[in-house]
Amino acid sequence: MTQADLVIRDCAELLTCRGPLPKRKDALRDCGSIENGWIASLQGRIVFVGSEPEFRNEVVAGDEIDWIDGRNLIALPGFVDSHTHLPFAGDRVREFGLRLQGWTYTQLAEQGMGIRTTVAATRAVSRDELAGLCLKRLDRMLLHGATTVEAKSGYGLNFDDEIKQLEVLAEVNRLHPIDVVPTFMGAHDIPAEYRDRTDAYLDFLIDRLMPAVQVRRLADFFDVFCERGVFSLEETRRLVEAAQRAGFGIKIHSDEFTALGATELAAEVGAVSAEHLIQITPDGIRALAGSPTVALLLPGVPFFLMLDKRPPARDLIDAGAALALGSDFNPGSSMVSSMLFVLQLGVFTLRLTVEEAINACTANAACAVGRQAEIGSLEPGKKMDVILCEVPSRAHLVYELGPNPVRHVVKNGRLVVRDGRRV
Ligand code: NIG
Ligand code: FE
Repeated sequence: MTQADLVIRDCAELLTCRGPLPKRKDALRDCGSIENGWIASLQGRIVFVGSEPEFRNEVVAGDEIDWIDGRNLIALPGFVDSHTHLPFAGDRVREFGLRLQGWTYTQLAEQGMGIRTTVAATRAVSRDELAGLCLKRLDRMLLHGATTVEAKSGYGLNFDDEIKQLEVLAEVNRLHPIDVVPTFMGAHDIPAEYRDRTDAYLDFLIDRLMPAVQVRRLADFFDVFCERGVFSLEETRRLVEAAQRAGFGIKIHSDEFTALGATELAAEVGAVSAEHLIQITPDGIRALAGSPTVALLLPGVPFFLMLDKRPPARDLIDAGAALALGSDFNPGSSMVSSMLFVLQLGVFTLRLTVEEAINACTANAACAVGRQAEIGSLEPGKKMDVILCEVPSRAHLVYELGPNPVRHVVKNGRLVVRDGRRV
């Protein structure tokens, strides 16, 4: 018999999302659904997933047990938001207004706005202010079902402010129930101080910041924006190779607005993910087919920037790429912090099936942050990170837009959202 200290009983439907990872092709359509499912944990780890009779046979429900009633609720793994730019200050609503008048994101960046606006605002705030902003945002993310959030630096772009962003991430990871996965993205842009001296900025990133971030253990991953006007393919390769030598896992912003070959590079160097892929080429798709490098699509970006072009989700799935979805939450190109909305965009704008979108926000998204042994699916041994949604079927998660159906959130075996409110 197994001991448990928390049981979620009688879920109308329990989506486990389990199966060999990452999920590809037809396997991406299998959410591992159990009708009238029960799930139990001990000290934050799942010890049982199955039916009521199996539960009665296998689990000792002692007096100390906490019960959550799953009737009329659908349970699924907490969402993993595997791409965000969480620690920023200010907003870009003025630039949004200009975009509504016809300016493009790229034109704004060329005029010295874009990322640079947010760099100035983020440099200007204290650690405490930045932590406060992050905590508020993490609360909103949790209320919409995210239990793990990757977060990139990259609005400091100098020694002190990159370290400040990463230290704030470490602090909010301690203070907030959401697990924050930190990524060092000093290569998000070239700061004004290094204009026309990109090589000197690369030297600074490689010789000063990478070792400083490593010594302080402030990031799991290194990320770089490979894009025309930002970092070229050759510069990206130099950075990525140095980051690997320094001990970082690799993520790459590739093929967002221009195809420069960074997706192929991501697969070649064994990056954990290639992210965006709006302009991915047939060679890029071939590189990701069957590769462990996750194709991480961010449907908030073409939606928020009102682009006609979408990343070719169906071609990627058919080719056998491991597809995941993330929010790219940031003030310029995707002011989208709800993973539930990302799931809905995956269906409405990328034409995924509901099941594909669910797996892409959970099991495969966990692979995109290298944490698939811990999170992303509901099975014994993994973290008890579960969301309970008040909808009659999983299709209703997508079918009805606007209201938030997330009723309860359990993180590490603790109820952190009850009846739609933080506890
Ligand atoms: O993923 N592409 C680079 N970074 C973000 C945008 C950041 C910003 O505009 O502030 C992105 O789209
Ligand atoms: Fe991004």
